[in-house]
Order: sequence, then C-alpha cells, then structure tokens
Amino acid sequence: MISIGGSLAAYQHRVERVLERMLPPADQMPARLHEAMRYAVLDGGKRARPLLVYATGEALNIPVERLDIPAAAVELIHAYSLVHDDLPAMDDDALRRGKPTCHRYYDEATAILVGDALQARAFEWLACAPELTVAPAQRLHMIQLLSQAAGSQGMVGGQAIDLAAEGQLLTETELETMHSHKTGALIRSSVLLAAACDDAVDAATLAGLDRFACCLGLAFQVQDDILDVISDTATLGKQQGADAAAGKATYPSVIGMQAARHKLQCLHAEALQALEGLSAGLLQDIAEFTIKRAY
Ligand code: IPE
Ligand code: IPE
Ligand code: MG
Ligand code: MG
Ligand code: MG
Repeated sequence: MISIGGSLAAYQHRVERVLERMLPPADQMPARLHEAMRYAVLDGGKRARPLLVYATGEALNIPVERLDIPAAAVELIHAYSLVHDDLPAMDDDALRRGKPTCHRYYDEATAILVGDALQARAFEWLACAPELTVAPAQRLHMIQLLSQAAGSQGMVGGQAIDLAAEGQLLTETELETMHSHKTGALIRSSVLLAAACDDAVDAATLAGLDRFACCLGLAFQVQDDILDVISDTATLGKQQGADAAAGKATYPSVIGMQAARHKLQCLHAEALQALEGLSAGLLQDIAEFTIKRAY
C-alpha cells in the first residue's frame, strides 16, 4: 500500500482491514472470481475515497466504527470502475496499481464479472452489514447517494462521455462536466456518505462539505490528467502517457499545462474556503495531498 503518513495512514490501514475481512475468501466458490475480486481491491491504491469518508466523519465527530462500511463500499465501487476502465473496450491498459490489470492477469470475462460483483457487494454492505449502526432510513439514503454517484448520472455517465470524447475537441465546460461525472461524483459521495452517518448535520455545514467535495473531485481528476503527462510509469503504477496515446480529452490537452495547474490552485483555494468554520484538519490535508501528489 502507498502510504501518506500520520492519521491518514492509520485510516488507510483501517479500511484495508475492513476490505480484507469483508470480501469473500479466495477459496470460497466460485474461487477464481473471488480471488480476482480480492486481487482487484486489496493491497493497492491510495484509498483516497475511504480517507475522505473517515476525515469527514472526524470533522463531524462521528464514531469511526460507523464509517467503516461506507468507506469500504465507496472503495469497492471505485475499484470496480478501475477494473472496467482498464478493459480493452475502454482504456485498454495493462498496468494498474503496479500490477497487471485484472483482465491481463485473469481474463476479460473474469474482469467484467469482478466489476459486476464488486458493485453488487458495495450495495449489499450498505443495505445489511450489521457493523453499520444507523437507522434504516439512513441506510436507504446512503444507498441512494452511492447509486446515484455510480450510475449514468455519475461515474458511469462520465465514463460514457470520456469514451465518446476520444479524438474530439471538447470545450472547457464540456471537459469539466465529464470530469465532475467520471471522478467527481464518487469523491463527492464519499463526503456525503460520511455526513449521512449523522442524521443531525445542519444544512450550512452540509452545503460547505458538498462544495468542498465538488471542488476536490474535479481537482482530483485534473491532477490525474497532469500526472499522466509529467510523471512516470513506475511512480504512477499505471502507464504514463496513456491519455495522449488514446487521444483523451484532458485538462492539459484542452487548456494547456500552465492553465491546468492554475485551475488546480483555484480549485484548492475554493475547496479550503468551503471548509471555513469547520474544524476539518484532515480534509485540508487530503486537499493538499490531492493537488501535490505524485501518484
Ligand atoms: C484513479 O483513481 C482514477 C481516477 C478516478 C482519477 P486513484 O488515483 O484514486 O487510483 P487509486 O485508487 O489510488 O489506484
Ligand atoms: C478513470 O479516469 C475514471 C474512472 C471512473 C475509473 P482515467 O481513465 O483517467 O483513470 P486512470 O488514469 O486510468 O486511472
Ligand atoms: Mg478512463
Ligand atoms: Mg483509464
Ligand atoms: Mg487518468
């Protein structure tokens, strides 16, 4: 696992243990599928979305045990999105989190099924994991938040726009719409899922957190686009230069590298401003990490 440091590292370890415990054992039938699900989820990734769940929960004084299931559920949806994103029909990538992509290590059909099963499992956990000690109405709200963020009005919709935009010239507004859907929606849902663990968060606090999450979600993909240009394959754990090779519409390709960096700074400032009045040190740390990260 890639470490960030301090209490964020502790939360990375925490969600790793939850995922490890809650995913089906690799020897349970159908064993190859379960092994591949574990391959795609465990031991890799920054766990940025679970970290946002825990950090938001910390800002709202929510007991940490209550955050484990939403943190793990959003990571499952993210992991599934990566498995499908890497398929030959989509970005056709061979390397993910420093390992062969799921379809390269297993096979395409298995990778499709891994994504399907991870998605279903995420909603199963939110619906009935006993560790999630919230009222049924809150569970329902969480399922609504995550399903909307994952579906055609969220991540999957953004992926559809991304594929249709290959080789096309997008305006900056179209690019922002694409990024806010394909990456922003799940990041926003991470913050809102944590807030949904407490049924008494006031409207102003919720609006501030939502604004923060929208800025951060977009910033996360802007930096992902920048890193595809300036980083290297070993550091990223995925193929550097893949966006240019596939003719993807990205912030550097649409508005230029300098303007992309400026956009990132503006989003960072706006994200921090949205947190004013909240004691949210960890969320500030995550925002800084998001725009400065090298992987
Ligand atoms: C990569 O996400 C794909 C995007 C949505 C930008 P991450 O950068 O969070 O990937 P992992 O989870 O750390 O591997
Ligand atoms: C992926 O965006 C967003 C998802 C919903 C998975 P990218 O295609 O840019 O992600 P990477 O660069 O392959 O991680
Ligand atoms: Mg993609
Ligand atoms: Mg990709
Ligand atoms: Mg990318």
